[in-house]
Amino acid sequence: MKVLVFVLPLISISCSSATAVGTDAAMPDEAGVTPDTGTEATEDAGADATQPTVNFADVYAIISSKCGACHTTNGNGGLRMNTEDSAYTALVGVASAECDGETRVIKGDAANSMVVKTLKGTAGCSVPRMPKSRTALSAAEIATFESWINAGAERR
Ligand code: HEC
Repeated sequence: MKVLVFVLPLISISCSSATAVGTDAAMPDEAGVTPDTGTEATEDAGADATQPTVNFADVYAIISSKCGACHTTNGNGGLRMNTEDSAYTALVGVASAECDGETRVIKGDAANSMVVKTLKGTAGCSVPRMPKSRTALSAAEIATFESWINAGAERR
């Protein structure tokens, strides 16, 4: 959107110089303004192109506040997530300890990632909805897991 704001003055400058042919004094000012404006428009376009992303740090903030001692000191279900690094290593591409054929986090595929199924209570094997015996995560918190996984489950 900001690009338009910068492009429109450029167009009006072009128009005014076309009508002002012969007015030599106006030309140097216009020539000086144009390159600066062009640079700002380019920088803004680059900033607009950057989409907000969900980082693993956002996911781990939920894990550390909601998954508690069950998945740190106790390592329930063979899943231990004491730190951001160990959580990433324990989740991405790792086979489920409880359910045959399930993978905890499948890069780019939230729907088939077991961790998402457990948060929704649809794991379909011996594992109940997580956090076990506690209030379910909010839709927004589950969406944070899904966005991160669907974007490639990158470590960043
Ligand atoms: C009150 C304890 C408790 C809490 C809190 C808890 N879990 Fe669990 N979790 C367990 C237990 C126990 C198991 C093993 C299955 C069983 O016996 O129910 C398990 C198993 C799992 C598994 C399956 C692991 C595998 O490889 O099969 C996943 C995934 C999981 N939990 C994710 C989570 C996430 C994510 C959270 C936080 C949002 C969480 N859990 C919170 C107790 C808990």
